[in-house]
Amino acid sequence: MSTSLEPDGTHEGVPAYHFDNRLGGPVLSHQERWDEMARSHSGFRSTVARGFWVVTDGPAVQEALQDWRTFSNKSVTVLEPDPRFLWIPEMLDPPLHNKWRRLLGKDFSPGAVAAREAEVRQVAGETIDLIKGDGTADVLDAFARRFPTVIFMRLMGLPEEDLPTFLDWIHELLHLSHREDPDAVRQMTAMKAVSAYFEEQIALRREAPRDDLLSRAMSWEIDGERINDRDLHAFCILMFQAGFDTVPISVGWALYHFATHPELRRAIVADPSLIATGVEEILRVYSFVIPARKATRDVEIGGCPVKAGEMVMLPLSVTNRDPDRYEDPLTVDPHRTTTNHVAFGSGPHRCLGSHLARLELNVAVEEWHKRIPEYRLAPDQELEEHGNMYGLKSLRLTW
Ligand code: HEM
Repeated sequence: MSTSLEPDGTHEGVPAYHFDNRLGGPVLSHQERWDEMARSHSGFRSTVARGFWVVTDGPAVQEALQDWRTFSNKSVTVLEPDPRFLWIPEMLDPPLHNKWRRLLGKDFSPGAVAAREAEVRQVAGETIDLIKGDGTADVLDAFARRFPTVIFMRLMGLPEEDLPTFLDWIHELLHLSHREDPDAVRQMTAMKAVSAYFEEQIALRREAPRDDLLSRAMSWEIDGERINDRDLHAFCILMFQAGFDTVPISVGWALYHFATHPELRRAIVADPSLIATGVEEILRVYSFVIPARKATRDVEIGGCPVKAGEMVMLPLSVTNRDPDRYEDPLTVDPHRTTTNHVAFGSGPHRCLGSHLARLELNVAVEEWHKRIPEYRLAPDQELEEHGNMYGLKSLRLTW
């Protein structure tokens, strides 16, 4: 498959391309394009909008994520270097960032997450049971997007009857291609609705606190001051973006991979102890998060002469699929012993929800294969990925 980008001259002596990350494409086209760019460049310039840098050298990506003094989180959106919005904790730099992470750490610690295992298992199992008799389903809609959202809503203390509304918002906010929503009007409308929803949920808890994360956060103090409503809201919005779509995308890739690799599938069914490393391998090979940072000073990274104030895109896929870091990097190998992938990021902003995500993914794969060990891709479907974060738009399986 040719995945080449359209050249667009050079910028400061570095090759430039019209690289628009919002566009969707056929299954695996994004991953293959990153591989191709990483083979031929350590970095390049995108000429989309005001322009930004893209680093495609694996070690350089990791180095930038660690160096928060040079690569700030004040903006994490390449197209908006000076955002008028705030997402907490993602858009904070240390030392304020550390204070939030310390407070949030308790609810997302390995112990707190392990205590939810029975509940996660039950919700996942019940969701699969609902579709098992049908013999076919779009497993993203019917399973992968549904069960982690239920768990997340419980964690935040949000009413479960709002699940369908949440799933609609997630779709409008995160899954539309540039073609489907060229002026981002649908995305903006959904964002306003999500924002108003969380304002209401915060006000309800100010009146009567409950036993949930949002209510607990109201009693937290930073530098002697209670967290105000504006910051609580900024936290809710980030949780909505970070916590909702990532596990579904990963479950989708896991089921896609095991559907298209029947020998590996039979191996994990015969020996479920292979699932834990299998899941880590799926996270590595299909890594889909593309962090971005704003340079605080002039710096060269991946061969790009970045100026203070410019945006830099740092795709995790180039580190996770780097042939210098992994032997046979594109193979999902549950026997692999190198487990240093960066699918959850690196440095101070490494994923807060990684323990929960791991639990949900492992449980999803285990419970699915206990119930439906043999399955395949349904015929006559064109598998497509959406832009921004590369997840499958839909995945129809039959069994
Ligand atoms: C497989 C699923 C997931 C993947 C691959 C993933 C990946 C990531 C990555 C790469 C980052 C770092 C972004 C950056 O450096 O700019 C991140 C941050 C974050 N993730 Fe996750 N994530 C997943 C699931 C979750 C879940 C389930 C939650 C919460 C329930 C969550 C909450 C967060 C938060 C709050 C941050 C921001 C951390 C900070 O700024 O300090 N994530 N995630």
